[in-house]
Amino acid sequence: MEGFPDGLQVNFDWRSYIFTSPSPRALVGSVKTRLGVDFKEAEKEVRPVPVRIGQGNSIVLSVNQQLGNDYNVKGDELGVGAVVWDAAIVLGWFLEAFPEIVKGGKTVIDLGSGTGICGILAAIFMGIGEEGSKGSLGKVVCTDHGRLEALCRGNVSTAQETFSGLGGGWEGVVRCLGEVEFCHFWWGGGLPDRVRELVGWGEGGKEKGKFFDVIIASDDLYDDDAFPPLLESLKVITGPRTLVVFAYKRRMNSREVGFFEKIEEHFDIGIVDLDVVGCEPYTETYIALAGIKGGEAAGWLREKKIWRG
Ligand SMILES: C[S@@+](CC[C@H](N)C(=O)[O-])C[C@H]1O[C@@H](n2cnc3c(N)ncnc32)[C@H](O)[C@@H]1O
Repeated sequence: MEGFPDGLQVNFDWRSYIFTSPSPRALVGSVKTRLGVDFKEAEKEVRPVPVRIGQGNSIVLSVNQQLGNDYNVKGDELGVGAVVWDAAIVLGWFLEAFPEIVKGGKTVIDLGSGTGICGILAAIFMGIGEEGSKGSLGKVVCTDHGRLEALCRGNVSTAQETFSGLGGGWEGVVRCLGEVEFCHFWWGGGLPDRVRELVGWGEGGKEKGKFFDVIIASDDLYDDDAFPPLLESLKVITGPRTLVVFAYKRRMNSREVGFFEKIEEHFDIGIVDLDVVGCEPYTETYIALAGIKGGEAAGWLREKKIWRG
């Protein structure tokens, strides 16, 4: 990564940017609040997700979903990840606005990938405009609990078929989607061998200087029990040049401020100015970027620092 794309503005005052307008709970009764998922859309077995692919064109991805009765992973239930969350849509708009974040042969890991939508979007923006390119365009690995594997893999294949069906001109996207993998990875546990291999660590442990380029975490902050293992895993897979992209839904300040405070001990955090990207109707959804303190990614964030007010 050479630096940050033009036009990307970040704000380091995460507290006032995210947490000072009336909380969603305070608005209940006056403004319709959202849980972070559109239940009408979530009930659909196939969720249409429009993706803007440049020059005024959009394509609609068909994403299979499996809304269960229980948000926990029990029986055959796939849990919360089996539907597309609002944060994933906003993340897609962010990547569309700043595709450089994932372009250029990067390795990207999607933590808590659910349906696979964010990994799919990362692969699409990684591949757009790379039709004539040779060599690796990059690599995306989706990770979650193993029962989501079939759903995720199916959605990746459908996306690839959709782009293949467009005819010539989308070879880069088709290639990148063809390279998306799924690995079972539960935060706090050991890194799966395949993930170690992708990051370049081999069997013997961390090889200095090799890490993922980009970590995506979309709507992974809904359960505070998961914060400690999430932070632990983030620390393991984040190197000095790794950019962490959180797509974040504000639900309960008391819980979420704690997460940001905790990660702030290790990471510099910048909030993307979503006026550039737009986030209607998904208000209270933000993109937070983080780089490990003292690392190059944190330095790039700092260079683009823009204070509000
Ligand atoms: C709210 S869903 C978001 C899914 C997807 N990223 C999106 O934005 O549509 C959160 C995801 O995190 C996964 N998850 C929760 N706790 C986890 C853990 N400890 N380790 C790995 N994944 C976890 C869930 O299985 C679920 O797929």
